[in-house]
Amino acid sequence: MADEAKKRVFSGIQPTGKITLGNYLGAIRNWLPLQQQYDCLFCVVDLHSLTVAQVPAELRKNTLDLVALYIACGIDPAKSNLFIQSHVHEHTELAWILDTVAYVGELNRMTQFKDKSRRHADNINMGLMNYPVLMASDILLYQTDLVPVGKDQVQHVELTRDLAERFNARYSDTFVVPQCLVSKAGSSIKSLQDPSAKMSKSDPNENAVITLSDDADAIRRKLRRAVTDSDSGPNCVRHGEDKAAVSNLLNIYTLCAGVSIDEAERKFEGKGYGVFKDAVADAVISVVQPIQAEQKRLLADKAYLECVLRQGAENATHIAQKTLSKVYRKVGLIPKIR
Ligand code: TYM
Repeated sequence: MADEAKKRVFSGIQPTGKITLGNYLGAIRNWLPLQQQYDCLFCVVDLHSLTVAQVPAELRKNTLDLVALYIACGIDPAKSNLFIQSHVHEHTELAWILDTVAYVGELNRMTQFKDKSRRHADNINMGLMNYPVLMASDILLYQTDLVPVGKDQVQHVELTRDLAERFNARYSDTFVVPQCLVSKAGSSIKSLQDPSAKMSKSDPNENAVITLSDDADAIRRKLRRAVTDSDSGPNCVRHGEDKAAVSNLLNIYTLCAGVSIDEAERKFEGKGYGVFKDAVADAVISVVQPIQAEQKRLLADKAYLECVLRQGAENATHIAQKTLSKVYRKVGLIPKIR
């Protein structure tokens, strides 16, 4: 499948809890067109999930659900490599080597580490701090050119670039230095209850988050309860810096309905928030429902999913082994005697 002339794309999502509309609009949706042009690897990053406490049976279920969701959203296993991170053990091996060029100070400064340490004060484990190094390993192992992510992951991709450049400077050219690909729209979908915070899987307020497993009633209810801004009047549905909550809903609407912000603003001129929120709900439901139906169908076909995962891991391992043995050689490890 790999074509040497094509640029390579890598991205992943943690199978932690329920996948949100933010994950879809900020990540998966943007991966789809890349499949036509690039050599893509899309990974379910199960090892990353272990940095916060998991119920093992739930983690297994969430992992398979996410594999099926990737395909249901339009990731085509005939075009892209789809695999589970823990199936390619080179990820953790490279992470160890990268640990030796990563500084404690820079990991300590990562925004997400600080946030998660605050939220999981009783479980600030080494994995939580090391998390961006494992992410760097995911990316560098495949000599990735482009990493499509939402805004909240940009800092981690920048760290990845720093680690690649540092390693290359110390041991000679080894890694491709990847670039971050952040879409203009959708890269930062906000909480429905607090537009200053991102929509997050781990938000304890379920009204703040639309998940891809929500049914139509839940989606409509959550959107009706979404906070708006204090003004009302004929032009209340508009995009603007002073309209964070409505701008977020407009972003969601335009991405799901496939219209521009201008078109949407015109459509809702003279209409109130109630009409607008119902239209947002209709647009979201029309995107989510077919995905749910296809995910359900795929989950009933375990043999197919296993076949995809077997092939995906095999292809990924082939690339990963090449990079890892190059890295081992560069740092001075003796190759295994065969
Ligand atoms: P994770 O699982 O938190 O999120 C997966 C992807 O969804 C994007 N995202 C959002 N985009 C827009 N609005 C939101 N509210 C929103 N919430 C999440 C994230 O930016 C991300 O692109 N560390 C990563 C997973 C990872 C990874 C990698 C990504 C591990 N290794 C290598 C890229 C390359 C994470 O926890 O994402």
